[in-house]
Amino acid sequence: MGRICSAQGVIRGTLVASLIISSVIGRHQHDVPSCRVIPGDEQWPTDETWADFNQSISGRLIRTVPIASVCHGSTYDEGKCATLRDNWFFPATHLPSSSSPMAYEWSNDSCNPFTPPEAPCVIGNHVLYAVNATGLSDYQATLAFASKHNIRLVIRSSGHDYLGKSTGAHALALWTLHLKSTQLLPTFKSSTYAGGAMKIGAGVSGGEAQAFAHSHGRVVVVGNCPSVTLAGGWVQGGGHGILSSKYGLGADQVLEFEVVTADGELLTITPYNDHADLFWALTGGGGGTFGVVLSMTIKTYPETPISIALLTVTRPPNRDPKTFKSFFRTFLSTLPATLDSGVTVIWALFPTAFMIFPAAGPDLTAQQLDFLLQPTRARLKELDFPYEYSSNTYPDYPSAFASVPRTWNASDYHMNGRLIPRSLVETSNDGGPSEELIDALLHIGNLAGNAGVSYNLNANLPAHPVSVNPKLRSTIFNLALGVPINYTAAVPQHSYAEAHDFMNSVLLEPIKKVAPDGGAYLSEASPYENEWKRDFYGGNYDELLKVKDKYDPVGLFYAWTGVGSDRWVERADGRLCRVEFAKDEIVHSEL
Ligand SMILES: Cc1cc2nc3c(=O)[nH]c(=O)nc-3n(C[C@H](O)[C@H](O)[C@H](O)COP(=O)(O)OP(=O)(O)OC[C@H]3O[C@@H](n4cnc5c(N)ncnc54)[C@H](O)[C@@H]3O)c2cc1C
Ligand SMILES: *[C@@H]1O[C@H](CO)[C@@H](O)[C@H](O)[C@H]1NC(C)=O
Ligand SMILES: *[C@@H]1O[C@H](CO)[C@@H](O)[C@H](O)[C@H]1NC(C)=O
Ligand SMILES: *[C@@H]1O[C@H](CO)[C@@H](O)[C@H](O)[C@H]1NC(C)=O
Ligand SMILES: *[C@@H]1O[C@H](CO)[C@@H](O)[C@H](O)[C@H]1NC(C)=O
Ligand SMILES: *[C@@H]1O[C@H](CO)[C@@H](O)[C@H](O)[C@H]1NC(C)=O
Repeated sequence: MGRICSAQGVIRGTLVASLIISSVIGRHQHDVPSCRVIPGDEQWPTDETWADFNQSISGRLIRTVPIASVCHGSTYDEGKCATLRDNWFFPATHLPSSSSPMAYEWSNDSCNPFTPPEAPCVIGNHVLYAVNATGLSDYQATLAFASKHNIRLVIRSSGHDYLGKSTGAHALALWTLHLKSTQLLPTFKSSTYAGGAMKIGAGVSGGEAQAFAHSHGRVVVVGNCPSVTLAGGWVQGGGHGILSSKYGLGADQVLEFEVVTADGELLTITPYNDHADLFWALTGGGGGTFGVVLSMTIKTYPETPISIALLTVTRPPNRDPKTFKSFFRTFLSTLPATLDSGVTVIWALFPTAFMIFPAAGPDLTAQQLDFLLQPTRARLKELDFPYEYSSNTYPDYPSAFASVPRTWNASDYHMNGRLIPRSLVETSNDGGPSEELIDALLHIGNLAGNAGVSYNLNANLPAHPVSVNPKLRSTIFNLALGVPINYTAAVPQHSYAEAHDFMNSVLLEPIKKVAPDGGAYLSEASPYENEWKRDFYGGNYDELLKVKDKYDPVGLFYAWTGVGSDRWVERADGRLCRVEFAKDEIVHSEL
């Protein structure tokens, strides 16, 4: 699979693949399982056991049929396959599925909609079963069943995760997407907050939460892709959106969680009660790691007008590159003041164009936004670049958001990203951006393309500590880049590895030189970042691991690059094994 081909994966993969594992599911000291059971093992539950389990959860167990099976074998259906291909790149195609990872590489190419009907279609790295959960009792039954039978457990919500954290071979998924409750709490009080709030179920998406808030004249911080769910990977990884320069990160909004721990206990946690440590871990320490969130309560704000500016600059091929660089320098140097006015700026740089889509300014007039972006436009005029600019004020979030042209594609790209320290943009003698940074960004922009989600994440800090990567607070933008997925590559796993290597070594090389300590946003980063503990978690990793061990001492929760995940290896057959068990086996095979 993709991960086995990676730099990090090669080491993990060959280590275990070379082993002769005699009794893979033997129990270790303290009754901690050494490896998860997989189908074919004697310990794998019988069909009857699965059926009993299904009955105990009112028939809500789903056995995976990969959605692209309509394109293959005896299940081939020409019309359905054509429709699936036309819609493959949209999140809405994958959302109703209990198993389809939106980041296609994490399916391990096991059922490809774009290959001929005779090509194989297997379950592969999709989860094998999923429980379409409706509430607490389904959570508890699923955790208990996975624990009892030593089956790999995956928590899946929208399935958006770019790093493969919501899928896994031979796994049982606890699927949280259909927990759609919403409740307005107009006067929430804690020892440090008194104001509007709302309580939402684990499956409520950003779009749904915002629509609900809007219907009550309120606004909430949500991500830019409306189908990302708030309480899952988004909040638990940090969570940014176009209101973040004014109201902060998603993790900064949380007042309370209801969470179910590995042993099935329901805890209601706040920053101030007995489980403040778990609350801290869930506000930035990564999804799928500490427990399963059932609901969360977040701050709401009075609805406010939002101004939106859009800019498209054409880069004519015949112009001296220095001229464009001069414009780009001006743009970067206007960012700090713009962001400090509460504006979030999303920009992209490609070989042929530069775009802002959008600059979003809550509580600002279009004239104020124009003023902040004026140096950038003046420079374009001066240098005689063709461009289009528009700005408008909208009465509320939904209308402002709808004005931004975008298609929310699910799975076109292999993903990578780095956080760029703000100091690099305020560094040269005149307080402007460093030349090395400009060159490094142009290097990526000329070869492939990159996007910068720019914000000031120090606005509206909560009164209690949260565990989001501290590097987010000193970043000026989250630099995101991607390489398109080749659905028809001869050896897909090789093409995935090449794409990641190209980004990590060629595209990002100069960035890593100028910003070696910038870190990365764990939800939008390379799945094969060697320094992931440092780069994704800042200095918080060791403390997060303590919380993990306190609330999940047997290691029921596992997610790729999650806290504690390096204690496990995934074998080529998808079986998850504890590293120390693999080490034992090496000793045994050497004897
Ligand atoms: C098109 C697109 C746009 C995006 N835009 C933004 C953006 O603007 N801002 C931003 O910050 N991020 C953005 N992201 C990244 C996004 O935040 C992550 O992909 C995030 O992991 C999605 O969370 P999810 O729960 O919806 O997805 P899933 O893939 O279902 O889950 C992600 C992780 O959370 C865990 N998880 C899910 N539900 C729960 C639960 N109830 N309890 C415990 N763990 C759970 C899963 O196990 C997994 O580890 C974007 C992603 C995509 C694909
Ligand atoms: C679970 O039970 C429901 C209802 O009886 C059924 O429709 C479904 O197919 C069952 N799931 C599995 C995996 O057998
Ligand atoms: C991933 O795909 C490769 C190549 O087809 C295969 O060898 C490997 O077993 C697959 N892994 C899983 C977990 O399905
Ligand atoms: C999951 O449950 C929801 C709500 O009960 C239902 O609408 C949806 O169709 C179910 N999905 C699947 C794939 O069974
Ligand atoms: C998104 O998918 C659509 C439909 O397949 C495609 O036309 C479009 O180019 C894609 N957009 C991006 C940004 O990849
Ligand atoms: C995808 O892979 C195929 C087969 O190796 C190759 O012919 C094609 O050029 C690749 N496409 C891209 C865009 O690289």
